[in-house]
Amino acid sequence: MNLHIFKNAQDASQAVYEQYRDRLEKGAHVLGLATGSTPEGLYELLSQSDLDFSDLYSINLDEYYGLASDHPQSYAYFMNQHLFRHKPFKASFLPNGLAQDIEAELERYNQIIQNHPIDLQLLGVGNNGHIGFNEPGTPKDSLTHYVQLTEETIDANQRFFNHRDEVPSTAISMGIASILSAKEIIVMAFGPQKAWAIAQAFEGPVSEQVPLSFLQTHPRVTFYLDQAAASQLSRELRQAHPLEGGESLS
Ligand code: F6R
Repeated sequence: MNLHIFKNAQDASQAVYEQYRDRLEKGAHVLGLATGSTPEGLYELLSQSDLDFSDLYSINLDEYYGLASDHPQSYAYFMNQHLFRHKPFKASFLPNGLAQDIEAELERYNQIIQNHPIDLQLLGVGNNGHIGFNEPGTPKDSLTHYVQLTEETIDANQRFFNHRDEVPSTAISMGIASILSAKEIIVMAFGPQKAWAIAQAFEGPVSEQVPLSFLQTHPRVTFYLDQAAASQLSRELRQAHPLEGGESLS
């Protein structure tokens, strides 16, 4: 796995933005997208750019179950606010958080992923090592599925809601196999709360207990971290990846 460690999240977002420019120039056609606070800076750069997405498809990782697409905390709303209203795609897909027939919705989403193979998948990282909403214990061969969120994830996401009991406890998420089917994967992680999961993913075993570690089995993955997210990596690994955009890590 490739690793870049930056002075701060802003420099890392700028570097990821440049990767998007490059991949779009090279013909990337289907973008797998993530929500959360991590990609906000990247989406701002993409929104303000001269890049044209009108011939591209986007497929999002996940959506809370029980929230309508116009609910301010839904991921559909987030994507619209941060990217789609500035840069419309030819078509943008997210799971339907209000689907009555969940099995049919999972099948619909799997079919979308199959019909639009993802060129470049963007991932954030849960504090517990989740990717998408694939919580610890999710098998490597999982496709789109209905998820019970962990207490830790509900706690982490509480900051976006007025009260903890407003945070949905279930979601629909692309599976690990869906994510690993992307031709290339970019992972962004910022802040000390991500440091444990990052260290496990790089230096621990491939394990269902840390879904991020499954990326070790993918041939083309690049991590863009700030110093804090890199802080629990071994000294050897950090010395081999000097800080970009500032002085070396101690
Ligand atoms: C969101 C998603 C999640 C987040 C992760 C980190 O679509 O799939 O896995 O990437 O929970 O969230 P933030 O960026 O808010 O720390």
